[in-house]
Amino acid sequence: MIFESHAHYDDKAFDSDRDKLLKSMPENGVGYILNAGSSMKSISKTFSLMENYPFIYGAFGIHPSDTAKLNEENFKWLKNQFKASEKVVAVGEIGLDYYWDDPDRETQKIWFVRQLELAGVLNLPVIVHSREAAKDTLDTLRAQKAGQYGGVMHCFSYTKETARECLKMNFHIGIGGVVTFKNAQKLKEVAAYTPLDRILIETDCPYLAPVPFRGKRNTSAYLPNIAEEIAKVKGISYEEVIQKTAENALKLFKITI
Ligand code: NI
Repeated sequence: MIFESHAHYDDKAFDSDRDKLLKSMPENGVGYILNAGSSMKSISKTFSLMENYPFIYGAFGIHPSDTAKLNEENFKWLKNQFKASEKVVAVGEIGLDYYWDDPDRETQKIWFVRQLELAGVLNLPVIVHSREAAKDTLDTLRAQKAGQYGGVMHCFSYTKETARECLKMNFHIGIGGVVTFKNAQKLKEVAAYTPLDRILIETDCPYLAPVPFRGKRNTSAYLPNIAEEIAKVKGISYEEVIQKTAENALKLFKITI
């Protein structure tokens, strides 16, 4: 049973065939999907996905690029959403994005810290989005003692050395479609280096489809292509990657059903 640890099925890219696609997931071997909320709108949509599909779970958080919209009133709304469903298993996606660099770094940092504090209060793991911001992300996670509740560095894009620091902090490494790209030597090295019991697999769909679907709309049905590449670089079986990454996710997100 495959555990998809990061998807965006609330995205408009799925508007034309969402129900048909999601209903086909169990026959594609996908047993669990964690839909990552990234804005207030996407959190509301994730609610209805969790209600309609037994295998969909949710993470609630405001993506760094959307933090300009946050204020005390909205943050209170965000906090209250966690009480509304037992299927909300993480805070995320939250973090720092210095690639788009919008809003300014100070605003991103303020709301990253506030949402990490919330994870501490709720005792939930975090899903961290970090792009071109390795040092500040690590410094913030350390200062907040994020290792106490743990989490995953989603769509990991840094070096083996940064992966080592994340692992030391009790974090998991989320590996997505990029690992299948020919020029992704750095991520293949990270996949080889990271112990299997600390890897989660993810698509970040509709983005970042793996080879041979690169450039097309991504879906969780392509997770086998990602797992196959991880198996190849680690020299282990495909089945082992599928089984162990699912166990890792169930444990991290404390899902018992
Ligand atoms: Ni995402």
